[in-house]
Amino acid sequence: MRTKLMAANWKMNKTPDETRVFFREFLPLVAGHDRDEIVVCPPYTDVDAAIAGARGSKVAIGVQNVHWKADGAYTGEISAPMLVSLGVTHVIVGHSERRQYFGETDDTVNLRLKAALEAGLTPICCVGEVLEEREAGLCDDVLRRQCVRAFHAISAKKAAKLVVAYEPVWAIGTGKTATPEMAAEAHAVIRREAAEVFGEEFAAKLRILYGGSVKPDNAAVLMVQEEIDGALVGGASLDAKSFAGIVKY
Ligand code: PGA
Repeated sequence: MRTKLMAANWKMNKTPDETRVFFREFLPLVAGHDRDEIVVCPPYTDVDAAIAGARGSKVAIGVQNVHWKADGAYTGEISAPMLVSLGVTHVIVGHSERRQYFGETDDTVNLRLKAALEAGLTPICCVGEVLEEREAGLCDDVLRRQCVRAFHAISAKKAAKLVVAYEPVWAIGTGKTATPEMAAEAHAVIRREAAEVFGEEFAAKLRILYGGSVKPDNAAVLMVQEEIDGALVGGASLDAKSFAGIVKY
């Protein structure tokens, strides 16, 4: 019922030239693959090359962050209307690397989500526990807190395009993945929280992606889980063959 979203998070990787090479190789590999939606989120500096590279295909282009103001004296920031004007359709919000290294909080995640939704972008809101929280049995509490604060004061109508990504921090870039059962359990917690905030009907339609060391050889076991509505892929999305392998799991 929910169309899967297969998303690439390139993080701080690739030049425009490398972006062009990626799309030349990637598009033929996924031509005719209509089962899922595909989005590639390069660094801002590659957006032009990515949009040109993906033209004529169904691959959408996203970015990895957005500021909450439309314009103003915010040196170094990029706004949602600016992204829309380029043809960007998706944005990752609240990635754990932003929370860990760049002072992202649940409150700024909420502001970014509101700005993205207001501008018509599809935000991919990242949540997930760190290892100590999982080991202390706090996983569900952490996910619930992150969701409640991220979704604060957003109406179900406004949130229509929202996508959530469950990314256990201990699984990101480590080669460790959550077991399909662990992921499905966490997704169920997130879906219940979304139902509390936005209602059952909304929650039933909400897409919840899994992220954290997704690779071509583990994509299928994760993606067949009914609770998992796609993947947010870091390292393994940098190579066209590898990301295509995941998309076509
Ligand atoms: P990874 O990153 O696939 O390299 O673990 C996932 C992410 O951070 O979105």
